[in-house]
Amino acid sequence: MGVSAVFLVGFMASGKSSVGQELARRLGWDFVDLDGRIEAREGQSVPEIFRERGEAGFRLAETNALRDLVTESLPGNCVVALGGGAFVQERNRELLLGWPTVFLEAPASELWQRSLTDGIERPLRGDPQQFARLYAERLPFYREASVTVVTSGKDLASLCAEIESRLQSRGNSEAGGPSEIPSPHFRTGESQ
Ligand code: S3P
Repeated sequence: MGVSAVFLVGFMASGKSSVGQELARRLGWDFVDLDGRIEAREGQSVPEIFRERGEAGFRLAETNALRDLVTESLPGNCVVALGGGAFVQERNRELLLGWPTVFLEAPASELWQRSLTDGIERPLRGDPQQFARLYAERLPFYREASVTVVTSGKDLASLCAEIESRLQSRGNSEAGGPSEIPSPHFRTGESQ
């Protein structure tokens, strides 16, 4: 049996972890947080890695964790939340080729407000101007995800329902008809 997975992509505070956990719960799949994987592999928190090795050191650890996840340790069916910069790196997008990716889109101003209240330390958050600039730089890469879902004003349940249906129709159109695939969430080219 093949492995099924979907990867959530988006800027800081776009809800990748909360949407990912809820989507995984609805599907009966595992939830994997890539930043959590990095911290477990490195024995350090994300801010500690940034402090000691800089962004370049963090990106290296991030790619290593992602490569390990997709090539060796993907646990059965799972929803994976990537960190905000992961999908921006070309080498990471290459590792994810063929996997369904979902961009959770919301305006930078809304994400900034959310980032102020969620209590997470984010080394790259900066001030509102830096935040908006980084968002604009990254947007073209996020748009390369297989599916884009606008999150503003939607609750978790409706967002997850929308993601499921978008993945379903995408899977069906790629496979040429619903009868051909039992689940849309599999890597293109792999059997279930
Ligand atoms: C980063 C976002 C963070 C974390 C790291 C770098 C980024 O994840 O991976 O601090 O480059 O945007 P979240 O998107 O979960 O905050």
